[in-house]
Formats: sequence, structure tokens, C-alpha cells
Amino acid sequence: MYRQTTWEKELIFEKSKQGRIGFLETDLSEEENEIFDQVIQTIPTDLIRNKPLELPELSELDVVRHYTRLSQMNYGVDSGFYPLGSCTMKYNPKICDLVTSYPEVQNIHPYQDQNSIQGCLQIIYELSKWLAELSGMNKVTLQPAAGAHGEYTGVMIIRKYHEIKKNLSKKLEIIVPDSAHGTNPATATMCGFKTVVIPSNEKGCVDLEALQSAVSDQTAGMMLTNPNTLGVFESNIKEIIDIIHEVDGLAYYDGANFNAIMGKVRPGDMGFDIVHFNLHKTFATPHGGGGPGAGPVGVVERLKHYLPVPTVDYSPEKDEYFFQYDHPYSIGKVRSYFGNFSIILRAYAYILRLGKEGLQSVSEMAVLNANYLKSITQKIRGFSVPYRENSFCMHEFVLSARTLGKETDICANDIAKFLLDHGYHPPTIYFPLIIPEALMIEPTETEPKEMLDGYKEILKKVSDYAYSGKRDIILESPKNTSVGLIDDVKAARNPILSYRMLKKNRS
Ligand SMILES: Cc1ncc(COP(=O)(O)O)c(C=O)c1O
Repeated sequence: MYRQTTWEKELIFEKSKQGRIGFLETDLSEEENEIFDQVIQTIPTDLIRNKPLELPELSELDVVRHYTRLSQMNYGVDSGFYPLGSCTMKYNPKICDLVTSYPEVQNIHPYQDQNSIQGCLQIIYELSKWLAELSGMNKVTLQPAAGAHGEYTGVMIIRKYHEIKKNLSKKLEIIVPDSAHGTNPATATMCGFKTVVIPSNEKGCVDLEALQSAVSDQTAGMMLTNPNTLGVFESNIKEIIDIIHEVDGLAYYDGANFNAIMGKVRPGDMGFDIVHFNLHKTFATPHGGGGPGAGPVGVVERLKHYLPVPTVDYSPEKDEYFFQYDHPYSIGKVRSYFGNFSIILRAYAYILRLGKEGLQSVSEMAVLNANYLKSITQKIRGFSVPYRENSFCMHEFVLSARTLGKETDICANDIAKFLLDHGYHPPTIYFPLIIPEALMIEPTETEPKEMLDGYKEILKKVSDYAYSGKRDIILESPKNTSVGLIDDVKAARNPILSYRMLKKNRS
């Protein structure tokens, strides 16, 4: 029986005792005091606090215990199975964290002279080369800090491409299939385009006829998530790209699901012009929690001068890595400095450790695990896998609880809470929108068969309880977690996210 640790819910502010202190104060030297005063004087007076900051007063032990307890009430990849579809929540080797803790990494500053950060520039340069190799692109920037940020960078490149060709006034639309990740249409809109959504066919792939009729001279490009959010590898990629290129549109590959295809196929070989990766899904940083992340973008040769500046290049004559600003059509900088370096370094260590065969086997195992779990869960009464009932999936699949809902009134949300109570993180629910009562499951390559079997058993239990008139057992969940059944609507409408908000709410 799963039991998550529960500690008292006292906030760190409520534990505060006046005068308690967690560190030994050291006196500043005369020189340090002088510097301190000088720095203070540079702060505009209207920005200086007129009363002390309200901070809790605690001993070091109080703080250590508080955060240790919070971590025990948390759930993460290191504590259990986390098949949150579209997030690739796999186990990430600790060696990748270790390298980011080295003083050579911790004690550098991006404003240092480029001669003193040659090692870091080498890592940025080599990782961008490896990502170019893996995707079949010509050049890669590591600046973007998230997948959606990579999409923004890529679609701004599409925009600039048409602007330079003096076509922007007529290139107004970006085509996005209804099986795309939700950030794709949002990105197209943010970049000033109209999003044209096209439906999927009965196999969960792009409907070519619908694509043909949506394409026109106004088409600036198309964004394709592949494998798409149904876990399906698009079957007509060559035809899709030809249709888009025919009208001088650019083909964008949302490569956030790269975990399914590493070392197997390359978007560049398929004809795509722009690709983004999610390092924080595929390459050793967990997704979720709001970051930090990295969403590198690769482009084909003809678009390399549109990338954000600077890129990092290598001069064999000088045997030196350097910042390259010579990109005449650059869309400009998209992030301060050179991206999230610690995430870049984790990805570098991950790829270096696994090598080509290792990466291939990651993808093979991710796809195998997803197909195994699909095959055993789709047989459970009340569940089905729309679009893919009789065919394989890639790294994830979408189980529908529609029949279960219709016949027993147990919905995807109830199933998610029941899973929580048994020590498993639920799948992504109610997404993609084209599948009713969706449970989007991405087991990842790092889980053993016993874990997948255990997950299936819990889904089977849901079905058994639901069909044998024991719905209440499901609906009482979760009881074994640190936080019990919450009022979803209240939590969404009235979130209390800080101590200040809590105090306001109480008064
Ligand atoms: C297919 C796909 N595209 C884009 C994104 C967006 O990435 P991010 O959440 O880092 O912005 C995700 C995130 O999970 C994704 O799964």
C-alpha cells in the first residue's frame, strides 16, 4: 500500500521565531563597507525599501528540516513512475547533474572575456554540432530557453525569411494540424500569423486533402509535431513538405518528441527547414516545474544567417572558439547570454556518455515500452486507443476512457486521482483535445517491465471497481497522498501562490 509522507502544513513563515538566526555574521572590512556604500548609492532612492523585508527568522536546522520534509511530500521521477505524456519524464543519470556542480562551471560568468571561457564555448560549439548531426540540419543555436521559445525563434525565422524576400505582406498564415502540441498554434499567433488548423485522418495523420485545400499563396509555413501528440509518426511527410515548399512556405519540425527517433531518422533528410529540440525532455533534464530548460533550434544551410546572434564558431587557424556576429539576416538575440548553460552541459554529458548506439537504444526502448503498455492497457474493459487500435505507436499513446465514462460515469480525472493514491503519477489528461477522456501515456525508456505491469494493474482495478458498482472507492481518492482530494475548480480560480497572497486571503 502506497503512503506518501505527510508533515504538518506549517509554513516557513509561521515557524519563524524573532531573533533566531541561521548563519554567523562576519564583520565587513573597511574596504568592503566602502564598496557596499558605493553600490547602495547607485540604487535609485524610489527603489530602496523603507521597511525591512519580511523574512522568516530560523536556525539552519529549522531550514534543513523544513525543506527535507517538503521534499518528502513531493513526487518526482526519482521517487516513482511518471508517465506524463508529452513531457518525457524519464530518469536522468546523476552524472549529468554532477558535471554542472564542478567549480569550473559554477564560478564562471558569461561576461568574462571569450579567451577565458574557451572550454564552455567548446561545449556549446560541440553540442550544437551534435544536434545538427542528429537532426540533419546545417547550424544550431542553443539560445532559446524552452521548447515554446525554440518554436518562437523558428517561426520568427520564417517571418524574417519572407520579409527579406519582400513577401511578408502576403505570407500571413501558418498551417498546424489538430494533432500538434498546443504551443504550436500559440507560437504562430504570437509571431503575428493566422493559424490555420487542419484535421487528422482516420489514422491520426495529416489529412492530405485538407492540407491541399488549406494551402495557398498566403501560406508562410507549416509546423509539424512528429511523432504527433497521438504518438503517431506522420506517414506522408514527403508529400506534406512538397505541398508546403510548392508555395514557398517553410517546413518546421517540432522535435520536442525527439526521444522517439534519435539516431533512426533525421528531419533534415525528410526535407524540413527548421527544427527545435527540447533538451529538457530528451537530453538529461526533466521537463515540468516551469524550467529551467533549453530549446535549441537548427536550420538548413539557406537559413543559417537568420539564426539569433551570436552563434559560437571555431577558428582552426587560431585554434579558438569565438562569438560569431556575422549573420546578416539574424532575427536578433532571443535570450540573454548564450542560453541556459547548465542544461546545455547536462545534454552534452548525456550524449557524450551514451554515444550513437546508446542514443539509438534509448529511442528503441522508449518505443518498445510505449507499445508494450499500449498493448496491455487497451484490452482493459472501458478503455480504447482511438486511431491506433490495431497499429503501433511511437514513444507515447493516448488511451481513451470514453466508454468507461459512458457506462460507469468514471472519468479521466477520477482515474488520475486513483493512480495517485497507488503511488503512480497520472498521465496527461484531457489532451490531445481530439480524443475524448484522453489519458496520454509516455512510459519512457528507463522503466522496467514490472513497473509497466503495475500501472496496468491499477487501470484494471479502476475498470473492475467501476463495472462492479464500487465507484465510491475510486471517487474517494486520493487518500494516501500528502495532499488529499482538492476542490479543482477553487484551486484553478483562486490559487494562493505566495505567503503574501495567503495573508491577504486570511484577512
Ligand atoms: C511536442 C511538444 N512541443 C513543444 C513543447 C513545448 O515545450 P516547452 O514546455 O519547453 O515550452 C512540448 C512540451 O512538452 C512538447 O511536448
